[in-house]
Amino acid sequence: MGTAGKAIVELDVDQLITELTKDYLDELLAFYSYWITAQVAEGFHGEELAEHFDEEAKDELGHARKLAERIIELGGSPVVHPKDWEPGAHAPWTAPRVDRSDADGMLQDQIKAERDAITAYNRLAKMTFGKDPVTYALASELLADEVRHEEFLENLLGRRGRAHLEPREHGERERIR
Ligand SMILES: [Fe+2]
Ligand SMILES: [Fe+2]
Repeated sequence: MGTAGKAIVELDVDQLITELTKDYLDELLAFYSYWITAQVAEGFHGEELAEHFDEEAKDELGHARKLAERIIELGGSPVVHPKDWEPGAHAPWTAPRVDRSDADGMLQDQIKAERDAITAYNRLAKMTFGKDPVTYALASELLADEVRHEEFLENLLGRRGRAHLEPREHGERERIR
């Protein structure tokens, strides 16, 4: 990484790379989870899910790319082998439901994963605030995306009539992105 770029990071860079690596692997798993779920989901509800999950997959892959770039900037090396993805991530990957027509169940599983991502980027933002402006900006950007993902999936689940969510004051908003 650049000399001045490194000098301004007021954190243990190895520790930061360790955290970024977990986030990076979370994103690769999230990408694959959305992507494979989009492929195998069945029936009418599955078709609806497939379209949305393909979009989510693209977002998560974009997040992985940005994290890989930051890891390299900091002098680290992104994990390469797929066998290392899950062991190095924060949590196990989200597999599609065995019942491929269980659209609500698959939505609920992804909502949980999005909430975990929100927790992870909130932690990264707090860790880097005032100490590493570049990573902080990235954490904030990804956090905002995950907040949007959670809200979108919650709304989608709500529209399907089986949400167990707090009622919204002004009715449910419909917004993809
Ligand atoms: Fe993400
Ligand atoms: Fe997400």
